[in-house]
Amino acid sequence: MLKDKKVILGVSGGIAVYKAVELLRLLTKAGAVVHVIMTRAAREFVAPLTFQTLSSNPVHTELFNLISEQEIGHISLADRAALFIIAPATANIIGKLACGIADDLLTTTVMATKAKVLIAPAMNVNMYTNPVYRDNEERLRRLGYLFVPPEKGELACGWEGEGKLAAPETIFEAAVAELTPKTLTGETVLVTAGPTREEIDPVRFISNHSSGKMGYALAREAQRRGGRVILVSGPVSLAPPPGVELVTVESATEMREAVMARVGGCTVVIKAAAVADYRPLEREQAKIKKQTGELTLRLVKNPDILAELGRLTERPFLVGFAAETDNLEAGAAKKLEEKNLDMIVANDVSQPDAGFNVDTNAARLLFRDGRMVECPLMSKKELAGLILDYVTAECSCRRQR
Ligand code: CTP
Repeated sequence: MLKDKKVILGVSGGIAVYKAVELLRLLTKAGAVVHVIMTRAAREFVAPLTFQTLSSNPVHTELFNLISEQEIGHISLADRAALFIIAPATANIIGKLACGIADDLLTTTVMATKAKVLIAPAMNVNMYTNPVYRDNEERLRRLGYLFVPPEKGELACGWEGEGKLAAPETIFEAAVAELTPKTLTGETVLVTAGPTREEIDPVRFISNHSSGKMGYALAREAQRRGGRVILVSGPVSLAPPPGVELVTVESATEMREAVMARVGGCTVVIKAAAVADYRPLEREQAKIKKQTGELTLRLVKNPDILAELGRLTERPFLVGFAAETDNLEAGAAKKLEEKNLDMIVANDVSQPDAGFNVDTNAARLLFRDGRMVECPLMSKKELAGLILDYVTAECSCRRQR
């Protein structure tokens, strides 16, 4: 979403300037063309050369610099921007913006831009809660400026509380969300992700290799596109995407309950979870002790959540995943038909770069009318975007019918 987008990163002075370096790295990695403006105070903390090297663009510092004004002046910088981020933003910069003071390159360029301005404040907790600051922030919010609130924690000044610059990933996420077209506005998307765990006894369980990466990428992308997102997740070690409603579950039975309790309000359900098909007949209360001979576990079938969703009379747009090791297309087509789905994502999980526990995936998308779309090897993030492009297109066709 940020590919070739022009972003201005305004950096004002505070100890958190070093975190702006990480934010710049995230932005450029995502393909954004970033121009950095640093205030004089910011340059006391980190040298402009660091930002220049990472952005591959000269760092802008002076309003009255004849050479840089001739090459790319502050008005042309302001005009080019798709998004203007100020991180860290001091109480001083925010105060100036709120009062219309433009007395350096950063404030002048903000004043001249028509782009959305995303402000990530960082300051001492008492400054942050000071009514003067609160008024300034409120005024800017009313005028359409966006804020990424600071986090609570130990502050550089020794105080504890709110005022710590938000994590670079959080600011990055807010920037991406701002630049993503809101194609899923009005949709409620439920995504299931990760494995399920079927307990054998207090220390052992049956599970699978699912990392949850595909489901989390889908939830993140749907959230960026303006959908209300409910993420029903089995046990994974991933941070939930900001803004999604996270419901954590362990077993297939719990996942079923969580999904069926929420499906009523959903317009789209994407079942990316690798649900265990079987669970032990009984979960032992005490740890099973080692025996001399063989141990036999009796397993019973778990509910097929997706098939149950497919049987609902009023059902949302249903997307399933098919994890196959052979006969990929035939296996997926059978699941599409038998579970009464609108779309299925067929994964050959025997491929080392696709399926479980990797960052990439290659898939085929199969539809009810027999269409098949081949998706070459790509990142799970990219595949999530592609899947949601099709979901959006299919949902809007369905609405028009
Ligand atoms: N699924 C489900 N509930 C189950 C099993 C699977 O909702 N108890 C869903 C998965 O989330 C996925 C789809 O059904 O979207 C297909 O899962 P998959 O494991 O590929 O297929 P199964 O139906 O379990 O069949 P098999 O394991 O025999 O391939």
